[in-house]
Parts: sequence; structure tokens; C-alpha cells
Amino acid sequence: MKIAIIGTGHVGLVTGACFAQKGHKVICVDNNHGKIKSLQKLIMPFYEPRLEQMVRRNYKASRLIFSTDIKQAVNFAEIVFIAVGTPLGPGGGADLSQIRRVAKEIAHHLNHRYKIIVEKSTVPVGTAEEIERIIKLYAPENASFDIVSNPEFLQEGSAIETTLRPDRIVLGVKTKRADNIIRLLFASFNSKILVTDINSAELIKHAANSFLAMKISYINSLANICEKTGADIKSVAYGIGLDKRINPHFLNAGIGYGGFCLPKDISAFIHISDKLGYDFQILKAVRDVNNLQREFVVRKIKKSLRNNLKNRHIGIWGLSFKPDTDDIRESPSIYIIQKLLQEQAYIKSYDPYAMKEAQKVLPNIHYCRDPYETAYKTDCLFIATEWDIFKNISLPRLKAIMRQPIIIDGRNIFEPEKMKKLGFVYHGIGREEPQISQIK
Ligand code: UDX
Repeated sequence: MKIAIIGTGHVGLVTGACFAQKGHKVICVDNNHGKIKSLQKLIMPFYEPRLEQMVRRNYKASRLIFSTDIKQAVNFAEIVFIAVGTPLGPGGGADLSQIRRVAKEIAHHLNHRYKIIVEKSTVPVGTAEEIERIIKLYAPENASFDIVSNPEFLQEGSAIETTLRPDRIVLGVKTKRADNIIRLLFASFNSKILVTDINSAELIKHAANSFLAMKISYINSLANICEKTGADIKSVAYGIGLDKRINPHFLNAGIGYGGFCLPKDISAFIHISDKLGYDFQILKAVRDVNNLQREFVVRKIKKSLRNNLKNRHIGIWGLSFKPDTDDIRESPSIYIIQKLLQEQAYIKSYDPYAMKEAQKVLPNIHYCRDPYETAYKTDCLFIATEWDIFKNISLPRLKAIMRQPIIIDGRNIFEPEKMKKLGFVYHGIGREEPQISQIK
């Protein structure tokens, strides 16, 4: 099929590359000329495993092209995906201005040749209806089109895998004609396809991300209880995850969720619920717990250094919001570093991919060549992101180079027993031994 993707962010570019990989002809469009020029030279705008090779292969096979011209894209395609950003707006809701602008532009280039316009960006329920209204307003009278909602569930760091083999594909459709065509497009993905009405499809996305965030805030709350009782969060998470109704995924306690999606989607969902007249209390608590978790971690680091960070040397392993990405948007690591800097700590950091991005928001910390340099002569090492390179470190060597062998492990990548045996002062999340006064 001939496909146009408007927006070459994480969702748009990965989706375009994956459709091309499936043998379709794809044109990816963006109004950022610099980005398109770079893509034409096969320079990726962000790091995502396997993406560059996939783009390269399909670009060379002429199945994937890049352009700034929406008109060319709409004329070419049978199916047009809208995958532009929906960032957080000033009031906490989703900023839909890019969606509206693109809808208007697409409308201008429609004609009697039937097209499907797919809403791929994460949007509040009811947005497809708005897109349809805009298109009808600006399109010529003979324009023939249908709107489909196809929410995206890809995860950064495993975006190719989660796009080619998603747990499910959700399609919100209104007409039989659109249903038949869009099902055909996804038939080769070998995933469960759920076809529903458009509003339900839109809601599924916000509902899914909120549920994931809820699991994380729940396990982080439990971790705090574990710290007060001497229970171990890993055993507790394993124990509850064995129940099939709960399942073991997304039960890793840590420093709170970050990234471009979960925080903004939770905020947008709260916002739209308020607008609809429903006070979504659980979700508000999920957000508050997540914000608090970062503060707990800052307190933990401070406590390990006797509540005085002035001129203390702290090494930070990891800047991205999770491993296998260079994305630092809403990264808890960045927030925590900013807090430590306010207390006049001296910060050194290493991240395999995210240092270039981090330099833009944290110009005044020291960036290191590897994890050892980061830990060298530090008073405390904080693990913010669970990259494999950190898990595979030589612990005796690490111990030997630190000024004080204090580790705050924000991702529980090491075992407390082993670390203590090696002579570290080690604090994980929800894995503390209780103080006697606390268990009385
Ligand atoms: C998320 C959704 O998972 C995905 O379906 C949607 O399409 C986009 O938003 P992503 O932002 O890539 O994907 O990250 P995700 O893997 O969900 O992780 C989000 C955050 O939660 C990260 O900061 C991660 O470290 C944290 N997390 C995740 C935990 O703290 N504990 C867990 O058990 C899982």
C-alpha cells in the first residue's frame, strides 16, 4: 500500500520504517527541514536500537522517502497517518495545535480519491471527531475520506519490536470501507486486532498508559512500606506478580516513571476527566506518588551523606528516563541531579547515549567517558538508569576507586547482601533493613 506519515518523531519514524520493512511504500513528512535533510542523509534524529539499519535498508530500496511536502504525501498515499506531537499544554491538557494544523493542511489536498486519515498520536477522547470536523470544513466538497484511530503502544528502547509485534493492534473505525482497508494493512503484523468505535480506541490508549503508571506508583508505594518493615520489594513484587490477574510486568520499584508519554498522558487524562466532570482521584494519586518518589530518592542520597551535600562528589550512572534510549524528557535522573546541584553537590555523570541531550539542560556537570571515571573518588554513587553496562561492572574495581563506597541504587540492579559483603554501603529502593526504632 502507499502510506504517508506526518511527523517524524519516535512514533512517526518508527512506524514509517516498520511499514516500509513490511514492503509498503512510505513517505515520511515533517515540517522541520533540518530533520528531513538529515534523514535524507540517513542521520537519525534520536537513538533507538535497530532503527538506523531499518531506515537505511528501506531508504536504499526506495520504499521509504523523506519530505517536507504534505501535498506530495497526501497525493501519493492511500492511507495518511497523523503522528505529530501532542505535548503538555499550559493547563495540563494535551496541546492539539499540531494535530489541528496538520488536519487543515491534509484537508486542502483531498479530492474524490478516497483516503483513510489515521490518528496515531496520543490524543484525548473526542479528538478524531474534531479532526473530522476540521477536514470537512477545509476540504473540497468532493473529498472522500474516513477517519480511523490507531493508538500507538510502542515503547522507546524496544520500539521496533513493540511496533512489529505489539500485544494488540487497536483500530477505531466508523465505516465498513475503512475497516476492510485498515485491517488489511495490519494483517501481516501477526498480532491480535481489536476493532472498535473511535472514541473507545482513543480512550484505550490513555487508559492503558494510566494503568501502567498506576502499577509503577503502586509498587513504589509498597517499596516505601517495605523500607519501614524490613520486607523486600523484589520478593513482594514477585509474590504478587505470580497471580495471573496481576502479572509480573511493570512491578519494578524505582525512582518513578518518566519519559515523554506517561507523565503527559496521565496529566492529559486527568485534565479531560475534570473537563467531563469526573474527579479521577486514583490518577491524581498516581501522579502525586510519582512526584514524591523522586523526592524520597533525593532524601535518601542526602541522608547517606549526613544531610550535607555541599562540595560532596556524587557520581550519577544514567541520564535517560530508561535504558536503550537517549531520551531525557521528564527523566527522573535529570530532576534529581538538579536537586542535588541546588544543594551544591559536585556532579559527574555517564550515560551510554543520553549525554549529548543532557548537556543541553545540564551544562554545568562533568560528563565522563565511562562508569568508572564517574565513580572515581566520589563520596556516593547514584544509579538512575538500569543500562546493561552498569549491571556488568566489576564491583571490586568500583569499590577500590570510590572515595566512600556508598551506592544508592535507584533501580535495584544489585543484590544488597552481595554488596554489603563486598564492603559497600548499599541502599536500594524498598530493600532496606529496618531500623530497630522503626519496627517497634
Ligand atoms: C510508554 C508505554 O509503555 C507505551 O505503551 C506507550 O506507547 C508510550 O509510553 P515508554 O514511554 O517508552 O512507553 O516507557 P515505559 O517502558 O512505559 O517506561 C516508562 C517509565 O516507567 C520509565 O521511566 C521506566 O523506567 C518506568 N518504569 C517502568 C518503572 O519505574 N518500573 C517498571 O516496572 C516499569
